Amino acid sequence: MDRATAILIIVASLLQTTAGQKRSNWDIYSFHINTTVTSRYAITVITSRVVNRHDNSTEIDFYVKIPKTAFISKFRMTIDGEMYDGVVKQKEEAKRQYSHAVSQRQNAALVTAVGRTLEDFKTSVTVAAHSKVTFELTYEELLQRRLGKYELLINAQPGQPVKDFKIDVSIYEKPGVNVLGVEGSLASKDLANAITKTSADKQAWVNFYPTKDQQMKCDGCGENGLSGDLRIIYDVERPHSKGEIMESGGFFVHYFAPTDLSRIPKNVVFIIDQSGSMYGKKMEQTRTALLKILEDLAEDDHFGLICFDDKISPWKRELLRATQRNLEKAKAFVRTIKDGGSTDINAAVLESVKMIKKYHKEGSASMLILLTDGDPTSGVTDLGRIQSNVREAIGKKFPLYCLGFGLDVNFEFLQKMAQENSGVGRRIYEDSDAALQLKGFYEEVAIPLLTSVQMNYTGATNLTQTIFSYYYNGSEIVVAGQITDNNTNDFSTEVIAISKNSKVIYKDMKLTKDEKLPADLSSLENFLQRLWACLTVKQLLEKELMLTGEEKEAVRKMALDLSLKYSFVTPLTSMVVTKPEGEDTQVANKPKEGEKPPITSRGGDDDDYGFRSSSYSDGDIQRFSVTSLKKRILASPARNPIQIAQDMYRGDSGTGGAGGDIQRFSVMYDLPAPLTPYRSSIDFDYDDVPDSTHHLSLATAVSATLTPGTPVRFLMTAEGQSLPLCFDIPAGHSVRLLQDPTSGLSMNGELKSSEGFKRIIIHAEANQHIQCDLNNITFTDGQSSVSFLWTQTSTSHKTDSMALTLRDHEIEVSTESVNVIILLHQKDGDSFLWPAVKQRPTNAALMGIMGKQYVTYEEDQSTSKLRIQDEEVDASKNSAKDLSIKTAPVVSCWLVELKFALQGELSDYTVSEL
Ligand SMILES: *[C@@H]1O[C@H](CO)[C@@H](O)[C@H](O)[C@H]1NC(C)=O
Ligand SMILES: *[C@@H]1O[C@H](CO)[C@@H](O)[C@H](O)[C@H]1NC(C)=O
Ligand SMILES: *[C@@H]1O[C@H](CO)[C@@H](O)[C@H](O)[C@H]1NC(C)=O
Ligand SMILES: *[C@@H]1O[C@H](CO)[C@@H](O)[C@H](O)[C@H]1NC(C)=O
Ligand SMILES: *[C@@H]1O[C@H](CO)[C@@H](O)[C@H](O)[C@H]1NC(C)=O
Ligand SMILES: *[C@@H]1O[C@H](CO)[C@@H](O)[C@H](O)[C@H]1NC(C)=O
Ligand SMILES: *[C@@H]1O[C@H](CO)[C@@H](O)[C@H](O)[C@H]1NC(C)=O
Repeated sequence: MDRATAILIIVASLLQTTAGQKRSNWDIYSFHINTTVTSRYAITVITSRVVNRHDNSTEIDFYVKIPKTAFISKFRMTIDGEMYDGVVKQKEEAKRQYSHAVSQRQNAALVTAVGRTLEDFKTSVTVAAHSKVTFELTYEELLQRRLGKYELLINAQPGQPVKDFKIDVSIYEKPGVNVLGVEGSLASKDLANAITKTSADKQAWVNFYPTKDQQMKCDGCGENGLSGDLRIIYDVERPHSKGEIMESGGFFVHYFAPTDLSRIPKNVVFIIDQSGSMYGKKMEQTRTALLKILEDLAEDDHFGLICFDDKISPWKRELLRATQRNLEKAKAFVRTIKDGGSTDINAAVLESVKMIKKYHKEGSASMLILLTDGDPTSGVTDLGRIQSNVREAIGKKFPLYCLGFGLDVNFEFLQKMAQENSGVGRRIYEDSDAALQLKGFYEEVAIPLLTSVQMNYTGATNLTQTIFSYYYNGSEIVVAGQITDNNTNDFSTEVIAISKNSKVIYKDMKLTKDEKLPADLSSLENFLQRLWACLTVKQLLEKELMLTGEEKEAVRKMALDLSLKYSFVTPLTSMVVTKPEGEDTQVANKPKEGEKPPITSRGGDDDDYGFRSSSYSDGDIQRFSVTSLKKRILASPARNPIQIAQDMYRGDSGTGGAGGDIQRFSVMYDLPAPLTPYRSSIDFDYDDVPDSTHHLSLATAVSATLTPGTPVRFLMTAEGQSLPLCFDIPAGHSVRLLQDPTSGLSMNGELKSSEGFKRIIIHAEANQHIQCDLNNITFTDGQSSVSFLWTQTSTSHKTDSMALTLRDHEIEVSTESVNVIILLHQKDGDSFLWPAVKQRPTNAALMGIMGKQYVTYEEDQSTSKLRIQDEEVDASKNSAKDLSIKTAPVVSCWLVELKFALQGELSDYTVSEL
């Protein structure tokens, strides 16, 4: 692999903002957030009232962040007494109807992007001079118990100080509210006195009313008012170990979280990725977390450790008891874990299953915990095959938890694999607290109390999930359903499970007549139905992931119907917001977990710091410019500024300038080829937040802002094999496509920033040249020249030694020995060229990327490596578009490095001039 050469410097230039210059012409005169939690079901309404103080009409923004786990269920704008309600529609339908609107005004569209815990909701509307608008957004979520508590997350950042600013939270829990804490950046010392907490038996209230003055003077506040999170933390009383049942409007919910049980000893194997991509901080954080986790194992637990890259390195061949002595030895092993190599997930998981199976017996709880940060790249790499291998090996006997470290993992694959094996997939964010996140996850599963939990209901239908492999201390099992015929007399429950020593049965829970909801909550009567719908949709969406074919469609349809009925914005639906005449309709979608926001900042409060980055490439030099939007960056921003192409280079600290509200850094470096497996990052500090390390992943920036940088994929037919090879060439190069030393004909092309070529030139004998670009084709012979437009009707041109024929978006050039065509592909308003060689000279070898007609390789079944020219070569199944055909069908191929496909370096194939 090429060495990434240079890291250049961080050039700092300052962009002075003129304070007040962008002061908005509109005033938020009231900003309220009102959350009602009834029996863990939280419904939040954000209401923002804005007046346009300007003499002209003005575009007014509404921009809020909501928890990722919530579904938006309502959005309304009221302008001059006129109401505009968002309507939830099937996603495809919304897309079909409004794709025009969406593509036209991307900036103004209701873009949502996923952060670590929050996602964005953004819209704007034009309001006449001195008129008012009210925005109202409602979202709903079922709070999940983790580590013994529920947490309600509220984010507020109106963008300006607001006179009437209120956050009101009211919690109603029938068995009584226990432990009430308020945390988050908005609960910091400056604002602490703006918070009041009240509780009375079954109810609790939190009110947060900061004055306008406080909103400007608090920690991290300023001209833009306050910005941050409020986290309300509570638990409920649990007088009955068989749980709590609520019934309302024909629906019920059963919360089951017994505490009077002893822990079950566990057998756990940690499967740790130590491939090259774990380099640096990630590996260090993993070691830190493992050391802590080991300390928490109980003496009757058994544990194993397997590290893997392309090889598997178990600590010991079998599980050992967590005695002090064994733990010390294990810790010594953990300290030596080092990164290097590629990723063989399949072999590692299968090996761990083999190990743990020997210890899997009644009275113990077995589990596997896989931590990885990348796709499988070695051994079995076919995701479907890995999944079925693992499923078969585990046979539903114990759960597999999959932790995906960072944003480069195929999280859907991990999630699916975990769910298929009764576990869960969780993302670990690459951040300063990654070790804590890992440890936190482990703690959630550290104390199994019950296994094989079966929740049995009589007199109920449409139940959510009722079988749970494990119940862990600090969590809670939730089942909701509909009471048959609305007849509560016949309703009863039974829970059967296995505890440490015996089978346990929690029997005969009858419904007691539910007390009336408190008066101020009575409008939420049907909340149980919504809770049931919300939980059902979530579970159906998870289930859908694991199914295929008709079953998948059926489950999808059920989830869709419920989403539409209860107007939830889920991954299957969109909300269409119609606005006053003359303005575009907007569509809000629920973003997918792991979808990359344009640029991510991570660290500290995750969502609080904004960055913008831009980049351009100039040959092999990639230049980045990173701008901090909200905070001042420390004069010497880069501690460990850039790591390029995994572990290849660590740059020196650069020096930034001081002062200024907005600061810009430029970062420049050579691009290694190919672009994709790219990972680099910058850490920097803010001068007003001591010791805050903010981590900007340039990998994200590369893929987002460098769309003009996707490598271009080439296919090569293989002799005697069904799958062709494919390889990538980084965008922007000019390459030699074909050269016939006998006739002197050659063809060179300049790659676009993605997909194909922007220019292709054919040079032939007698000083004849054919130049194709995206507009036209020009033929010159040194004296005269003829041009054709791609759009014109079929035509042809002949000389003594060659013939040109233009047909529908295709030009054919033939000489005595060679025949090539150049296709103009057009897609989504973008176009590019692609050459194909149709006829070759029979007795001469051609050179250039398309010189060889065939490549030969052999498949090594056992290693899934390919043998090319006597060399073992890493390959992975992938796909490519066959651009030599007009319809550009997608075909499967073995993706290999360019140097193996072409048997040469990229530089052997580049040209400085076409
Ligand atoms: C919050 O919303 C609930 C339900 O809509 C309503 O009854 C209550 O008055 C609101 N509270 C405040 C303080 O606005
Ligand atoms: C208001 O709009 C009018 C007409 O578009 C324009 O001439 C005028 O400059 C605007 N006034 C301000 C204060 O922007
Ligand atoms: C069930 O009965 C209650 C009154 O007992 C009624 O309020 C509710 O609407 C009924 N639900 C259904 C689904 O029929
Ligand atoms: C479960 O957690 C609670 C509180 O977090 C703790 O008091 C209790 O001892 C734990 N139970 C076991 C069996 O460890
Ligand atoms: C659940 O309840 C039904 C009805 O009483 C019964 O037939 C079934 O055996 C029960 N399931 C278990 C696992 O006990
Ligand atoms: C519950 O299931 C029945 C069929 O078992 C179905 O007819 C009914 O519509 C379902 N109820 C809801 C609220 O989906
Ligand atoms: C063909 O395209 C080239 C480059 O875009 C341009 O300079 C030239 O004028 C075009 N010729 C015709 C006839 O359109």
